[in-house]
Amino acid sequence: MNDRVFIEEQFPVSKVSKESYKERKAGASQTLTSLGKWWGRKPLVVVRAAIIGMLMPVSDDPKKDRDIFLKIMTMDDDGLWRRRSKSIPTQGLKDHLSRDEWEALTTDPFGNPKPSWSTGLSPDEKEVVIRKVFDRMSYDEKLTYCDRPEQIDGPDEKAWKDINDHLGTHAASLQDLVAELGKRRFGHVPRVGDAFCGGGSVPFEAARLGCEAYGSDLNPVAALLTWAAIHLIGGGEAVQKQVQEAQEAAFAAADKQITEWGIEHNDKGWRADAYLYCVEARCPATGLMLPLAPSWIISEKYRVCAVLKRNDARQGYDIEIVTGADKETFDKAKQGTVQNGRMVCPETGETFSIASIRGDRRVGRETVYGLRLWENDDLVPRPDDILQERLYCVRWVETDSNKIHRHYCCVEEDDLRREEKVLELLKERFSEWQEKGFIPSRAIEPGYNTDQPIRERGWTHWHHLFNPRQLLYLGSIRSSCLKTGNNTGITFAANAVSINNVTDFASRLARWTPQGEKVNTTFSNQALNTLLNYGNRGIIRLQGNIETFCSGAKTTIKSNTVAKVVDAREINSNYSLWITDPPYADAVNYHELSEFFLSWYEKQLPHFFPGWYTDTKKALVIRGSGEDFKHAMVDSYANLTKQMPDNGLQMVMFTHQDASVWADLAMILWAAGLKVTAAWTIGTETTSGLKQGNYVQGTVLLILRKRTTSETAFLDELYPEIEDEVRRQLDQMLALDDKEDPNFADTDYQLAAYAAALRVLTRYGDIEGHDIRHDLFRHKEAGEASAFEQVINRAVEIASDHLVPKGLETRVWKALQAPERLYLKGLELEKNMEARAGAYQELAKGFGVKDYTGLYQKAKANAVRFKTGSEFKKAGLGNGEFGSTPLRNILFAIHETVRTDDARQGLNWLRDEVPTYWEQRKQMVAVLNYLAALSHIPHMPHWEKDADAAQRLAGAVENDHAGVL
Ligand SMILES: C[S@@+](CC[C@H](N)C(=O)[O-])C[C@H]1O[C@@H](n2cnc3c(N)ncnc32)[C@H](O)[C@@H]1O
Repeated sequence: MNDRVFIEEQFPVSKVSKESYKERKAGASQTLTSLGKWWGRKPLVVVRAAIIGMLMPVSDDPKKDRDIFLKIMTMDDDGLWRRRSKSIPTQGLKDHLSRDEWEALTTDPFGNPKPSWSTGLSPDEKEVVIRKVFDRMSYDEKLTYCDRPEQIDGPDEKAWKDINDHLGTHAASLQDLVAELGKRRFGHVPRVGDAFCGGGSVPFEAARLGCEAYGSDLNPVAALLTWAAIHLIGGGEAVQKQVQEAQEAAFAAADKQITEWGIEHNDKGWRADAYLYCVEARCPATGLMLPLAPSWIISEKYRVCAVLKRNDARQGYDIEIVTGADKETFDKAKQGTVQNGRMVCPETGETFSIASIRGDRRVGRETVYGLRLWENDDLVPRPDDILQERLYCVRWVETDSNKIHRHYCCVEEDDLRREEKVLELLKERFSEWQEKGFIPSRAIEPGYNTDQPIRERGWTHWHHLFNPRQLLYLGSIRSSCLKTGNNTGITFAANAVSINNVTDFASRLARWTPQGEKVNTTFSNQALNTLLNYGNRGIIRLQGNIETFCSGAKTTIKSNTVAKVVDAREINSNYSLWITDPPYADAVNYHELSEFFLSWYEKQLPHFFPGWYTDTKKALVIRGSGEDFKHAMVDSYANLTKQMPDNGLQMVMFTHQDASVWADLAMILWAAGLKVTAAWTIGTETTSGLKQGNYVQGTVLLILRKRTTSETAFLDELYPEIEDEVRRQLDQMLALDDKEDPNFADTDYQLAAYAAALRVLTRYGDIEGHDIRHDLFRHKEAGEASAFEQVINRAVEIASDHLVPKGLETRVWKALQAPERLYLKGLELEKNMEARAGAYQELAKGFGVKDYTGLYQKAKANAVRFKTGSEFKKAGLGNGEFGSTPLRNILFAIHETVRTDDARQGLNWLRDEVPTYWEQRKQMVAVLNYLAALSHIPHMPHWEKDADAAQRLAGAVENDHAGVL
């Protein structure tokens, strides 16, 4: 029986990529982001597509299967139309209609022009016209007028009829369909698990689709985020209302308290919504305390900047704030007092490294760090500390008869008094709050990312990363929330996630951005970077983060769910589908970074979540790519394989930098008892990103099943089988590809070739003479490819040969030498706007061409392209793998044609220099015509002259019968 599922046969990668890009671009309005930061949360639409793809059976009509899949996802034409949320503009209507259609629309039955196209049309008739326009848009364009699939209620009645007719189901909702397909395949509602659940995308989406969902993670912050995703966002209106009320009350209480304390208001009744602080240190050149910042610009738009004025009486500088600065003042402020990691003395121009200012020094081979380490109750630097902290600007908000005026002001005596008061108020509460866990008290454990705040500021405890103002208002919120006594898991989690959310914007590591005039997130990257100057939001600017309304999801989750902390190797629950995104060769130190959040609620967590630990379990974290990592991964996946029925499926996602790294992952999964059945790459950038040469990251989705037999094979015998499988896979994809909106790019075909090879290989439990585990764990020299890798690489060679560039006949392609094929395929990559060095390297690997860097005109990592004939000139002609091929001579002949503006010169070169000229004339004409067609590619203007010359030369060679032009 064929029990293969849709995702094992095909996957609409281009459309899913576009949808996931749209979701990512929604920024803060993505469904789960309101819960707070998690690094590498996966788009929900990818998870939805994966679950449907893993449950939907295939028929013998792949095109119909695809249409039905798109209908379920509301990614077909009708679904997109249903998802539209903005009106479709009709200004450019004429461009979208044929001449006849336009004429029929704009003339009345007597042939007279109508005042407007819509004159005399009923609303329904108008809609038909607009629909026509919409249907003719590209998928990207359509998406700009649409909501995301998760924002509507699934397919409509008509679509359900088609879906049910094709699948033999009786569904009227996504949940019905998922349940029916699950029962058919597994005998029950599908059970979907994620053993590395992170921010909770997989369990949340699975539960929303009606599956029984399981999410666990080693890290308690991740487990809490997952729990909150399911129970708060998926909790339905009553829960959302409860959360909303609790959060609003928390904000109102803190706001009232702060107003009563008078620490954010001035005597004019204005309220501060931003405070800017900087570090200060003594300048070795002058002995003055110098405020430090890489730039003193505060607002680009209003030309606000800080200006330092020497003040010998205070042994330092006054800081003035200038609004509407003249060019000279503004340009000077751009320079800052720290440039390239060195303090710049404004008096002498001398520079000093910040490390030397801190007192860091080498003793033998060790670096001894110079800063005093802060003690628990240090909340600001002590007077004799090397690095001081100084408030240098306050932004006041004046509200007058509903108009808002913002004023950037320098720091006055009253501001300093308010700062003092904040400190006093905090000190009064500090011990009690730490004890009760309203503010952090945990020490920072040294580590890869956590060493930085310790070394660069002397901060030893997590609360040191927050200034007194931040600790005071966050502590107030938490104490008022947690003191009320009517706490439940729901209110605790709501409070904890709002802390995740707020602290990302409210720490000493949150950068002030003069472009947007706002305080940005702490985690603008995956590190704990200290800042010389930072911004602090007033509480009114944090209202949105504190009141985490959790109202993103339409569906109330009703199915059975589990969210817990556990090591992936220890999971003891059986699930039909495991969808995981492991920490593969991952640079994110989840266990270190998440302490930033966990330190705020670790004391209450075990009370509300009995059995949960509050340790981030450094020793058990899976990370890196070395031997320990591989063992941990094999053990984790062997466990998940055990926790899955024989007809279960797994999908492993990982975001790859380089197509070859994933071969290692495939070996890990093979060693864990799984076999690969398919692989797809989802892009997370659109073509507009590509145009600017941005780095495009792809996430590989690897589909796997349990290996239930233990057949043995000889590696040599597998080659023909692999060759057939690769060709079959590619032909199937080529046949399915959409000519107008291509689904697959070159890298997808390469990946599919790898996957096809792995499909054959991983079917076998044993390959005679090779031990999979041994091969995986043994130390390899750099560049050494194991026998398995060689087999996998062979698959790409087959794919490279098999995929003929569009516009060339197979006969012409087959007659070309490998370096010639590489060159022409490279041009095809450029045509498709692929500019990543990795794609070109993979191609060269596929054709087995070693010496290819000479072909590069541009070799910058994300801006690679090959040279044109005119750019090559004589370079490499006659030498190396490519230099002596007919194609290299063709390129030189093009160059000669351009240079002399005479096709005869090019022709003479070919006749004289290509010994096989007369036999290969037709072949050459075909190649020249292929190059001539590049003149039509708008983003390849550098080919314009050469393409024109190629066309003339093609004519000359074609007519060169008797040596007469
Ligand atoms: C790439 S992230 C997963 C992101 C997740 N898919 C999402 O959408 O947010 C990998 C996760 O693996 C977790 N992890 C690391 N070692 C683990 C282990 N031994 N057992 C379970 N989880 C682990 C990390 O805490 C991290 O959350």
